[in-house]
Amino acid sequence: MEKIIVKGGKRLQGEVDISVAKNSVLPIIVATILNPTPIVIKNVPILEDVTVLINLLRELECEVNFSQITGDLIIDTSNLKEVDANSELIRKMRASFLIMGPMLSRFGRCKISMPGGCNIGSRPIDLHLKGFKCLGIDSEIGYGYVESKVKKIVGNRVYLDFPSVGATENIMMSAVLAEGKTIIENAAEEPEIWDLARFLNSMGARITGAGFGRITIEGVKSLRKPEPFTPIFDRIEAGTFMVAAAITNSKLTINGVNEQHLMPNIEKLKECGVHCIVEGNRMIVDGTGEKKPVDIKTMPYPGFPTDMQSVFASMLTIAKGTSIIVENIFENRYKYTQELNKMGAKITVEGKSAIIRGTRKLYGADVKATDLRGGAALVLAGLIAKGKTQVDDIEYILRGYEKLDYKLQNLGANINVE
Ligand code: EPZ
Repeated sequence: MEKIIVKGGKRLQGEVDISVAKNSVLPIIVATILNPTPIVIKNVPILEDVTVLINLLRELECEVNFSQITGDLIIDTSNLKEVDANSELIRKMRASFLIMGPMLSRFGRCKISMPGGCNIGSRPIDLHLKGFKCLGIDSEIGYGYVESKVKKIVGNRVYLDFPSVGATENIMMSAVLAEGKTIIENAAEEPEIWDLARFLNSMGARITGAGFGRITIEGVKSLRKPEPFTPIFDRIEAGTFMVAAAITNSKLTINGVNEQHLMPNIEKLKECGVHCIVEGNRMIVDGTGEKKPVDIKTMPYPGFPTDMQSVFASMLTIAKGTSIIVENIFENRYKYTQELNKMGAKITVEGKSAIIRGTRKLYGADVKATDLRGGAALVLAGLIAKGKTQVDDIEYILRGYEKLDYKLQNLGANINVE
């Protein structure tokens, strides 16, 4: 299995270009199921999760062409066939569950294997099914599968007990071609929700309020062929490179940022003593100087993103004092801390909280990526650890970071995939 080898101690310098957002491009790829016409999505990143979705659409007899040179992804779902519940590809990635909404719009039924839990939590689907129920869609959970059926999707009001990103996306997509109006209350406000609505509206959907807590979807009869569409930049990748500058005491320029989307990272880094200046879509991060300890509570957007907690934790292991992180979104997102402790970090996990006592130095070690963002945290720790760090199970990292090793090498890091 491939592994990442990092030799610590080198400062970074230069510029890095951020890729298009994984968590935007995945629901947008799925949304093409709603519209049987050739659709072009631009600047699509080369990621394992994108490959899984492309292969799933091909398994459903869609025509998919992806140029890894230009980043153009052309999808035509005209010949789409109903999904086989036992598709291994569905089980492989939770985001595949997002096909439910569009498949119900196309066929009025969809039976797929239950999305697995993963290394960060049980990942239930009750809010997705509650939203479907409000729109007249009946679901049955069997042994390892879920089957939903509907004669005609009829718009209605849906209240989400928790602003779930996936449930908001699934319900929004199932309401686009429904009869009448749907209102989603307590909807997720993440930028990727706004981006999915922007894509759907580019095809003639009528969605307002996306990116805010109340989304209104006026059902339409059909959709039109959209202009080629470029999703937003990846705010989590950008945040990861902001912390890379901070942890290595470096000054970096990050191209492809949206200041509003990065506000939680900018504010938290400022508390640590790291200053970020944004001009247009370029950010200059001055990570030089002592890092102060901070307290972090993860929250739904626009609060501090759960996807950034492990990456910040890696930097806080060498802050001058004790930091406390409270993870409020996923119930099992601290597995990576055991691996950081192998490198000399002093992290204690108590329920939802991680107490991080700052230490002077980290030491290279053999560690394993436990999940996507936990793996990124280990790579960042390896950048400053004394000696060599080997990160195994890096397929987790390749799911969500495009050419992470290459981008860090370009900034001067001593890092290789072997
Ligand atoms: C999306 O996952 C992202 N994935 C995650 O990013 C991100 O961490 C998460 O949103 C939160 O921001 C994609 O967009 C592909 P949720 P999702 O539904 O949609 C509970 C990464 O690293 N919940 O908002 O699965 C759930 O248990 C990944 O890029 C229910 O209780 O997140 C969790 O505690 C990791 N019932 C909370 O909501 C439901 O029906 C947040 O889940 C659905 C969710």
